[in-house]
Amino acid sequence: MQNMSDKASKAATATRDTGSMRPRGGPSKAAIYEALRGELGKLITDQTDFLANISNFAALLFSSLPNLNWAGFYLLRGSDLVLGPFQGKPACSCIAMGDGVCGTAALQRAAVLVPNVHAFPGHIVCDEASQSEMVLPVFKDNRLIGVLDLDSPQLGRFDDTDREQIEALLRMLMEGTEVPEFRLAPPD
Ligand code: SME
Repeated sequence: MQNMSDKASKAATATRDTGSMRPRGGPSKAAIYEALRGELGKLITDQTDFLANISNFAALLFSSLPNLNWAGFYLLRGSDLVLGPFQGKPACSCIAMGDGVCGTAALQRAAVLVPNVHAFPGHIVCDEASQSEMVLPVFKDNRLIGVLDLDSPQLGRFDDTDREQIEALLRMLMEGTEVPEFRLAPPD
């Protein structure tokens, strides 16, 4: 996984917005998340399919939030997390529960914000451009489904406002999505 970068993907990344969270003259963080709630509402109004909705969710975040190089899901499969819908470079396809940032968030069933991935013991490198990362557990009716992983080429890209806003978006997503039983962790 550590040798996945190449000129083409670096060029593609360079064409994305890699400025600050609030590019000069750009919308505020509050405005970005308000717009995201509206867009998500439209996307899930007439659609409850699990893969359709989480695929659109990953694409919505990746195309709307500044300064991301990867956004997507790892979905629970037994005691592993298997790569789900995402946007960004190809990534590790399977992460064991407890491994890396994703496995840590899944095991702890809690958000993990990593301001500098190089300082996180056991961080799994999927895109060498990543400098900071935020992983949020995803639940349906209080049962774990997997995690949402966001990566940024900027150190310290994610803060508690991002966490709270994206957790709220995930709740909205899951309220409007039917999740097949086999995707859910066993009830506690
Ligand atoms: N960095 C993650 C692996 C997934 S990729 O970043 C897409 C981790 O340490 O779990």
